[in-house]
Amino acid sequence: MDRIVVKGSGPLSGQIPIAGAKNTCLKLMCASLLSDEPLTLTNVPRLSDVATLSDLLESLGVQIGRLDDGRTLALSAADLTSQLAHYDIVRKLRASFNVLGPLIGRTGEAIVSLPGGCAIGARAVDFHLEGLKKLGASVDLKDGYVYASGDLKGAEVEFPFPSVGATENVMCAAVRAKGTTVIKNAAREPDTKALADCLIAMGADIEGAGTEQIVVRGVDKLHGATHRVITDRIELGTYMVAPGIAGGEVECLGGRRDLLAAFCDKMEQAGLEITETDAGLKVRHPGGRLKAVGVTTAPFPGFPTDLQAQFMAMMCFAEGTSVLEETIFENRFMHAPELIRMGASIDVQGNTAHVTGVETLKGAPVMATDLRASVSLILAGMAAEGETVVNRVYHLDRGYEQLVRKLRGVGANVERLSE
Ligand code: UD1
Repeated sequence: MDRIVVKGSGPLSGQIPIAGAKNTCLKLMCASLLSDEPLTLTNVPRLSDVATLSDLLESLGVQIGRLDDGRTLALSAADLTSQLAHYDIVRKLRASFNVLGPLIGRTGEAIVSLPGGCAIGARAVDFHLEGLKKLGASVDLKDGYVYASGDLKGAEVEFPFPSVGATENVMCAAVRAKGTTVIKNAAREPDTKALADCLIAMGADIEGAGTEQIVVRGVDKLHGATHRVITDRIELGTYMVAPGIAGGEVECLGGRRDLLAAFCDKMEQAGLEITETDAGLKVRHPGGRLKAVGVTTAPFPGFPTDLQAQFMAMMCFAEGTSVLEETIFENRFMHAPELIRMGASIDVQGNTAHVTGVETLKGAPVMATDLRASVSLILAGMAAEGETVVNRVYHLDRGYEQLVRKLRGVGANVERLSE
């Protein structure tokens, strides 16, 4: 199994191109199921999650043309051959549960495996299912699968919590339902807005995406479209943390402050300088130690849970104690014990971590159980003495394209070893 070896890196300098957003791209790919005409996606990130979802869509009969070295996907769901999303694939990739809304919206029937929990928490799908029931679907659970069917009718769906996945599943189901659906307490994430923009380009009638109320007026048919995947704000935030740990200055190409305003505010409070440039966002470490800053994760526009691990890695070196509170997932501090093994001072109590910065960490062999936790250990290793070896690299391949190459490009001492 491959490993990534990180050694202490001097100040970073240079540019990092930010890829198209993984989470957005996956939901756009699912949306191709809604039309019998092709959906062409550009700026597609080359990631194993995209390959896994492609396998699932192909098993449903979607034909996928890959152009431009995989950066453009042409998805044609003209001839669907199955409405069954098998456990073998859904268990590998939770986002594949988002074929449910498009499948039932298009065909009136879907059988989709329940995704089960994952390392960061239970991650229930009750909001997805309740939402579809409100639209008139009959939903049964049998042998670990969701059997959903029915002709959908517009309705009011109010979520107890602004779930990203549930908002997207219900929005996709509603675009071809009869009548008007009003989604209240909807997720406001840029990914959800981008999905709505793509659906609108395909002929859907949607208003309010990006706000807490989305209105979907059902249409009979969606047509083909070409849509560019937006910048990956989590990849952007991850690379913005790199100079925060290793020092120096990095320009993230394609970065935009509005994608990550709350995160940028916290980075600045810690002492980093962020400048908007013509090409993206530039982050500069002013030298010395950063200041400890507390964060509480929250749905967009709050501080993203997907950047909590990386921010914690940075706070391990800051002056003072920062309090990090995780409110989205119940088990999302798995990087903390590994950072402690590297010499960090972290005290986790329930959903709160107190991180007291130290002058330096010591490299160690580490292991992580999810994507963002893994990358936080690589970032920490960049300012540690000695060598940090990160195992289970397949987590990183799920969400970071060319991670080693991008970090090496700005001077980080990182390499990937194959066995
Ligand atoms: C998406 C992102 C993930 C990100 C998360 C929160 C994708 C592929 N993944 O995940 O990277 O960390 O948003 O920004 O887009 N919940 C329920 N019942 C439900 C649905 C959710 O209780 O039916 C709970 C979850 O367990 C979790 C919280 O709501 O505690 C937020 O989950 P949600 O916003 O749905 O996250 P995902 O869409 O799974």
